[in-house]
Amino acid sequence: MLFSPILVLCLVLHIGIAASADSCSGRCNSGVDSSKSCQCNSACETYGDCCTDYQSECLGGAYSCNSRCGESYNSGNPCHCNDLCSQYSNCCTDYDSQCSGGVDPGVDSCSSRCGESYNAANPCHCNDQCTQYSNCCTDYDSLCSGGGNPGETLSSLAEALWEADDNGIGGSDLVFNRQAYLSNYAARNDLSSQPLFTYVNPAKLDTGTWPTFRALLDNYIRFTGSSDTNTANEEREIENFLDEVFNTRVMDLTYDYLFNKGYFSSLSAFRSYVKDIWFTSYTRSGGVLDSSAFEHTFVGEVKNGKVSGYHNWLAFYEDELEGNVNYYGYTSDNEPNQILMQFRLDDNGSSYYKELASIIYGASPEFELAIFTVCFKENPNALSTFTMAGGITQKVQTWDYNGGYIGSAYFSV
Ligand SMILES: *[C@@H]1O[C@H](CO)[C@@H](O)[C@H](O)[C@H]1NC(C)=O
Repeated sequence: MLFSPILVLCLVLHIGIAASADSCSGRCNSGVDSSKSCQCNSACETYGDCCTDYQSECLGGAYSCNSRCGESYNSGNPCHCNDLCSQYSNCCTDYDSQCSGGVDPGVDSCSSRCGESYNAANPCHCNDQCTQYSNCCTDYDSLCSGGGNPGETLSSLAEALWEADDNGIGGSDLVFNRQAYLSNYAARNDLSSQPLFTYVNPAKLDTGTWPTFRALLDNYIRFTGSSDTNTANEEREIENFLDEVFNTRVMDLTYDYLFNKGYFSSLSAFRSYVKDIWFTSYTRSGGVLDSSAFEHTFVGEVKNGKVSGYHNWLAFYEDELEGNVNYYGYTSDNEPNQILMQFRLDDNGSSYYKELASIIYGASPEFELAIFTVCFKENPNALSTFTMAGGITQKVQTWDYNGGYIGSAYFSV
């Protein structure tokens, strides 16, 4: 889903209705239209030029499940409309009447059903004969990848990893505030007065892989040309992190996938590979060991006066807490949990910009490590396209550095 369910709702409700100049009817989240007396995207809140019906026309949908049943979790919304919302107690008040009506949401989806035998009781089917009989569930192609078993294709792996991301943070544990849409990101205007992250439940960050991941974040000097120390303690922190990562379902699934494809014949060989491609120090500038795949991708670097890399949401959240970064606004917002945004980083007395950074908020470090590693192994220096979170298309770009290490890896748009 592009941009937000709010946009979709507005389109659904208002298509074909002529927009009057001073109403947001049919104009929610559209760009600035200077021929109109007032505006209808989130920047209007900053500039104080919203149409009087902006609130009801454009934001109202966020509080209702109308046209949103079964949509993927998006922490930008105040309430939710998929089958997990009952469990997390964050359904919109009209969820029951709009969405479930007592029907098991599983039977019209192929989620966890790929390749199952025909069962006449189900309204749609998920094995390779359904194409022939034209009775496949609508998500059959995206989830089952043509009838294969889960774990056979990049899409089925990515779907399974997203499902199994036990350390991912969402629901009421992560409150996100995307604020202004930047219609001209080259202008580098701070149109968002608040941080991007309003709240992340600290108890969550004390569990799973988070503590060992967070311990790594202060091991690096972001400036290229300044060598990073590699102390014995930092070496131990890397091993502790990998111990935790290799204890997750995400990494089990990833190993199974790569084992079945013949890339690795033992778990220890896979772990050595992960450590090598992510944590080997290499040089980007001046011949000193100033960089690594992990530093570039997860922590970020400053090179030639600009921020480069820096694709991890938790590193950004921690920098927000410490006052090191200032969130300016977003240029796109895609499900699941992807935002392309701009920020300023203050380091060592100067300011540096990242004009467009892509992050997947809420995802665990092992989720990103896993999907980036697989894309790099199978498809280095290229854009890998796949689906995750129930058939949503996503793309990962990886770059090789010095033959064998990751130079960069990120979710693209
Ligand atoms: C930090 O700033 C000081 C003072 O301007 C400068 O001497 C030093 O080289 C800077 N450090 C880095 C890593 O750029």
